[in-house]
This record gives sequence, C-alpha cells and structure tokens, in this order.
Amino acid sequence: RDPSSAMGRNDVVREELGSLHGIPLYKYFVEGWPQVEAFQARPDDLLIATYPKSGTTWLSEILDMIYHDGDVEKCRRDAIFNRVPFLEMKAPEMPSGVELLEKTPSPRLVKTHLPVQLLPTSFQDKNCKVIYMARNPKDVVVSYYYFYQMAKMHPDPGTLGEFLETFMAGKVAYGSWYEHVRGWWEKKQEKQLLYLFYEDMKKDPRREVQKILRFLGKEVAEGTVARILHHTSFQEMRKNPAANYETMPTALMDHNLSPFLRKGISGDWKNHFTVAQNERFDQHYQEHMAGSDLCFQMEA
Ligand code: PPS
Repeated sequence: RDPSSAMGRNDVVREELGSLHGIPLYKYFVEGWPQVEAFQARPDDLLIATYPKSGTTWLSEILDMIYHDGDVEKCRRDAIFNRVPFLEMKAPEMPSGVELLEKTPSPRLVKTHLPVQLLPTSFQDKNCKVIYMARNPKDVVVSYYYFYQMAKMHPDPGTLGEFLETFMAGKVAYGSWYEHVRGWWEKKQEKQLLYLFYEDMKKDPRREVQKILRFLGKEVAEGTVARILHHTSFQEMRKNPAANYETMPTALMDHNLSPFLRKGISGDWKNHFTVAQNERFDQHYQEHMAGSDLCFQMEA
C-alpha cells in the first residue's frame, strides 16, 4: 500500500515533533513536561518502562492481571490506557497521564517510554520497582513504521527506507533506540529493576511471567498463571476492546490503516527489509552496540 495515500489529507493533528532535552517528542508532551517532571511517585508504584513498540501493552495487561489475581472481568473494567496510565501523555481534550495517575488508587501501574535520564526523580527517591521490556530494533522499527501511519500525532513517516534512516539517526519520537535500551540496561545493577525481552516473552511466556511474579514477591495459583497466559495471548488481546486500543478516538488512531495489535511476532522485519537495508542496519547496529553486553535475538 502506498503510505502517502493512506495518510489522508485532513489529518490536522499530524505535525513535526518537538524536542525535550534533546529527545524528539510530540509537542503536546513537551508542553506537559513541567507536570511530569514534578510527578510524585508513591513507594508502591510499579513503573513499566519501554522504548515504543516493544511490548508495553502486552506487559501492562499481564501486570494488571497479576494485580487482579487473574480476574478477567476486573481487567475489562476500562481500556488499558486508563488502567495503566501513560505518565508523559498529553493531548487536547483528554486528561493527561499525570491527571489520570493522581486519581488512580494505589497500588498503581505506570507506563512510560522516557529514556532513563529523563525519568522524574521521584521514582528513584521512593525506590519504586521498575520493569523494562526491550525488543529487537528491526521488529521495533517495522512496528513503529505502521504505528506512525495509524497514530496521527506522528509526522508522515515516508517510505520504509526513509523511516529506517530516521530511526537510525535517532530522529523518531523518543529518540535513539540504542541509547534507550543501553541507558536502562546500565541501570539494572540496581536490584529494583527487572529487564525483560519481548523475544523471551514470545518464546516462553510462562517462564517470563514466573520471573515477574518472583520480582514482585507474589505467589499465585498455577490455574491463575494459566488464565493470565491465555488472556494475554496475542489472539485474545487482539479481540479484547479493553486491550486493543479500538476505543481511542479515530482522530488519534485509525485502526483501518493498521491495527494497534498488528502481528505480534518476532522476525516480521524479514518481510519488510531489503537485503541492502538489512546490511546497512546490521552495520549501524554493530557500531552503536559496541562495548555493550546487551544482546538481542533478531528472530524467534
Ligand atoms: S506502544 O504504543 O509503544 O505502547 O506499543 P507497544 O504495546 O509497546 O507495542 C506494540 C507491539 O506489541 C505487539 N503486542 C503483542 N505481541 C505479542 N503478544 C501480545 N499479547 C501482544 N500485545 C501487543 C503489538 O502487536 C505491536 O507489535 P507489531 O509487531 O506491530 O504487531
């Protein structure tokens, strides 16, 4: 499909990104930054941190299920973006992430895509637990490309080839993927941070859910784990209006252009990258991951 025709001509909300301390970000989010910076975390807040398109929604649904002891009905009480408020979110005519969080009873689950150096200091001061999830950059960039098309707060992504260059240059929303995953990885020395991978979650979700339970110091019955795994599978989440973002206003997200839960696999980049693009990406990756012991599985 020709992305330029998919864009439509009346997308008034599409605009260039602003900048927050050198990180490209939506202008509305930059506007709301003073409230985010001053955010008061609570000691029992759990922060879900990710680079965009890395499995945030999946991890959020798993955690909400854990917090509600696998009660599927309770996890349908509201859309995922209200159950797990997005800290730095700000958009016209919608409550901001901070406003939502202030009304959320404890224990709260908090979503953020902020790079570690921009995390409001209160999370550290209150010694909050953090779960970070990372995904290999080739699948992230493909997922992000489709998201740029359907979520209309983004600038026009152009062709995939153009978008790959924008991504490698760190000029997409939230900036450099490399700096993001590496920045949070360095922070994992602190024991309050659990660092997970999308590819591991795909391969063995039970093992990863057990890891999360251990990290949280929670015990649940085996049947509950099975229920959590079933409810948070791609197929189940895709048809769940409380998890699939279909209740977002179409002016913001148009699922006809691409559904939010699009494919949910590892290695879809192989259906999109040319051989030349892959070689160029690999070389750029080697340069930018040099000296790090952080490893990614590029396929399942
Ligand atoms: S966002 O907008 O940054 O919060 O998006 P995020 O939720 O991080 O990432 C969206 C991608 O995660 C996939 N996804 C899943 N994969 C496997 N299983 C489950 N249950 C699941 N839920 C969401 C979603 O499909 C997006 O990836 P792609 O590759 O585009 O399908």
